[in-house]
Amino acid sequence: MRRGAGHIRNEVAIALARRAGYLIKKNIGKVREVSYKGAINLVTDVDKRAEDLIAGEIKGRFPEDSILAEESGALFRKGAFRWIVDPLDGTTNFFRSFPFFSVSIAVEDEYGVFSGVIYDPLRDELFRAERSRGAYLNKKRIRVSGISSISKGFLATGFSYHVRNRRNTNINNFRKFLKKAFAIRRAGSAALDMAYVACGRFDGYWELDIHPWDVAAGRIIVEEAGGKVTRFNGSRFEYSDKDILASNSLVHSSMSRILR
Ligand code: IPD
Ligand code: CA
Ligand code: CA
Repeated sequence: MRRGAGHIRNEVAIALARRAGYLIKKNIGKVREVSYKGAINLVTDVDKRAEDLIAGEIKGRFPEDSILAEESGALFRKGAFRWIVDPLDGTTNFFRSFPFFSVSIAVEDEYGVFSGVIYDPLRDELFRAERSRGAYLNKKRIRVSGISSISKGFLATGFSYHVRNRRNTNINNFRKFLKKAFAIRRAGSAALDMAYVACGRFDGYWELDIHPWDVAAGRIIVEEAGGKVTRFNGSRFEYSDKDILASNSLVHSSMSRILR
């Protein structure tokens, strides 16, 4: 019964990621309203419309479920399921028509996240995983890369919107990896960074000051693709934690040593 209920939510998450992605794609270069959550943290009417579309459908179809969504916060309900939604991950990129952004939707039950979907509307790439059922990019099963040496590692990271007010800006980590890794990218969508670890495009990803909606879907997709997700020090990552390390598992301990 529960498995069926979870599977239906997984199907709905896929459909909603596609619908929100279509809305976002249609509105590139057509932002009507911009407001600022911080000096360098903007939000557009398209973030809000994508979130309204996703949350509205969840509320209508599953009135007992809780929702944690970036733009409207937490909605607590009585049911056994919680949705974790980033309607547009990579808002700055979207706003400037830099083609790297996504929709990220995860669903959890009492055992944790069991379904994760990340959709890149520009490339029509849908990354998804269900607990114990593997990870997929569109119809193809995906696996993390086989790179085992950090010197060959193609890595991703990000910088938080609080970077101007933080002592630890992540720049020291960046500097250290610059000397050790093959190359690093800071592309601007944490969810896609993790999806790219899952399908072997990146070998590892780390970030500070992360939120649950940035990484909830990415985590299960990476794990179901054979990768590993922890805190910087290698301990279990909880959604209240701010530091995250995701990798193909082979470079995990080397990355963790550098981040300690
Ligand atoms: C941001 C992006 C970015 C990451 C930031 C996130 P948003 O999400 O994922 O890559 O570096 O930490 O907050 O605001 O575009 O949804
Ligand atoms: Ca985000
Ligand atoms: Ca967002």
